[in-house]
Formats: sequence, C-alpha cells, structure tokens
Amino acid sequence: MATLLLHLADVDEASWARGFAAALPGHRVLLRSDRYDPATIDYIFVWKPAPDAFDGLTNLKAILSFGAGVDALLQHPRLPARPIVRFVDADLTQRMSDYVLANVLMHHRLFMRFKEDQAARRWVQLYPPAAWDISVGIMGLGVLGQDAIRHLRAFGFQLRGWSRTPKAVDGVETFAGDGQLDAFLAGTDILVNLLPLTPETAGILNYDTFSKLRRSRLDGGPVVINPARGGHQKEADVVRALTDGTLRAASLDVFEQEPLPADSPLWALPNCFITPHIAAASSEETGVAYFSQVILEHEAGTPLPNVVDVKRGY
Ligand code: NDP
Ligand code: OXD
Repeated sequence: MATLLLHLADVDEASWARGFAAALPGHRVLLRSDRYDPATIDYIFVWKPAPDAFDGLTNLKAILSFGAGVDALLQHPRLPARPIVRFVDADLTQRMSDYVLANVLMHHRLFMRFKEDQAARRWVQLYPPAAWDISVGIMGLGVLGQDAIRHLRAFGFQLRGWSRTPKAVDGVETFAGDGQLDAFLAGTDILVNLLPLTPETAGILNYDTFSKLRRSRLDGGPVVINPARGGHQKEADVVRALTDGTLRAASLDVFEQEPLPADSPLWALPNCFITPHIAAASSEETGVAYFSQVILEHEAGTPLPNVVDVKRGY
C-alpha cells in the first residue's frame, strides 16, 4: 500500500483527493490537514508548495508536479533530492496547441488590423499572405512545441524550430543552441515561445531578440506569442517594442509578476493580447488518471516517466 500526500495551492485540493482515492483503491490519500506520520509518505503531489512542504518526508519515493513547468518547484528552498515527475498529458498538450493555433491564426489573418479598420469604419481589402508565405518559429521542441507544430503543419505554415540540442522534426527547419538563434529568428514572422524557464532561457524575449525577427512578410511587422513563463520576457522591452513598431503585436499568457499588476503598461496596449495564465490547465480528470498510473506502475517496479533533469532545469 502506497501513501500519497496532496499539497496543492489555488485548486480544489479536496476534489483532487477524492479523485485519487477513487483511482487508487487500497492506497492511502492524505491532505495536509489530516493526521499522519510524515515518514509514511511515499509520494507527494505538489503545486506551489509551502516552505515546510517536504519537512519530515524521510521516505519519499517521488515528487509529483501538478505543473508541466517545474521552474518554481526547482527553486524551493528545501527541495529534497528525489525524482520529480512532471505533468505530461494529452489534454494539457491539446489545450496549449489550441492556444498557439488560435493566436497564430489571429495574427496571420490580420484580425487586429481589421478591428482597427472596423473602429474607423474603413473598408480596405488588404489580403493576408498565404500561410505558406508565413513562417512560424517555435522556441522549444519538447512535448508542447512538437504538438503545436503538428497542428500548425496542417495549415501550411513554414515551420522552424529552435532547441538546446539538435532535433530532426518532419517538415521543420530546425536550429539548435545559442549559435543558431539569430539564424532562427531572422526567418521567423511569428515567434512562439514554448521553452522551459531556466537560467539560460530567462529574459530571452527581449528587445534584441525582437529586433532580429523578419519584418517583411506580416503587415506591420513580426509578432510574439508567449504561453510559457513570464520570466522569459522582459516586459519593459515588450512595451518598448510594441510601442515603437519593432513588434506588430504580442499575445501573452504569462507575466513577470502574476497576477499582472493593475499598473502594468501592458494592459493599455491595443496590440497586446493578454490572457491570465490559462493557456493550458492541468485537468483533474486526466491528472488523476496520469499520476495514479504513475504511482501504480512505480509500485509494481516500472521506472518513473517524465522525470525532470534537475541539473538541466527541465
Ligand atoms: P519540454 O521539457 O518537453 O521541452 C522543452 C524544450 O525546450 C526542449 O526542446 C528543449 O531542448 C528546449 N530548451 C530547453 N532549454 C533550452 C535552451 N537553453 N535553448 C534552446 N532550447 C531549450 O517542455 P514542454 O514542452 O512540456 O513545456 C514547455 C513549457 O511550457 C513548460 O516548461 C512550462 O513552463 C510551459 N507551460 C505553460 C503552461 C501555461 O498554461 N501557460 C502550461 C504548461 C506548460 P532539447 O530538446 O534539446 O532538450
Ligand atoms: C504548467 C502551467 O506549467 O500551468 O503546467 O503553467
């Protein structure tokens, strides 16, 4: 019998616990408000854990991360040296691809420009370029980057991808490492960030990066879409680029500080499309199914899947 402890902020923890209890008959599912001996905990399922979250968990087998991104978890001051399994799930992946697709198509089809024309009661038949004349550049060719590519491919866009190590992806011009970043950017009209936040990728969406994007294809200039982490973007640079025309538009789901402060200049920029970190939620139904399977298989002797490389940071 395994014991699972839940430690989740900002979600209905009790509801997740009921789900796990139903999916793991014969096992113990606990909340922090329950009475238990911390030394009996085998697995802890966490989102935004408190500083004392791991105290006393001396026999922990694995940490299960509610988030697909583990940047904040890796910063935990008392994180024990145990394997971290991150959330990798078809439902979350599909939601992220929906977000990417919706925003790429909105910018490619110049919806913002036509909204401006509408406000001015102006009839101008500006034809958007064909999808195959527009290049979408995906930073990060992992689970989410590759699924977004799969969806974008069906629309006929030119596709390019950038990763840390070289990757071959069908129908995609790929680039790897810092040495090929500029070449990747130079042919990109719509930049989509699906990188993990690490010391190497922090602040990568900055003015210098924006200045290197291709300007010639999309009416008004290039576009940036960031549904990864707020720490990737330098918001002062985003504001500057959106104001001086270096960027035509930006779609941002994540921010340096969340919630985005009411006095952020981003709110007032008509060419900034803000969503409140909702690009891809972790679904309770599929999350319970995924992590229950992880626990059951691990208890049966199967190695843990989707384990974070702590040194690499993702
Ligand atoms: P993966 O770990 O599967 O993929 C990461 C990709 O980024 C890999 O291709 C990796 O390269 C590349 N990469 C990492 N470091 C660098 C670097 N220094 N230079 C170039 N490329 C780099 O991650 P996922 O696709 O699952 O998720 C990506 C991120 O999306 C998460 O970390 C999370 O922050 C964010 N996210 C946001 C959500 C939201 O609701 N807004 C929801 C879910 C996730 P390589 O292939 O060589 O290893
Ligand atoms: C995640 C997120 O990392 O929701 O899963 O941001």
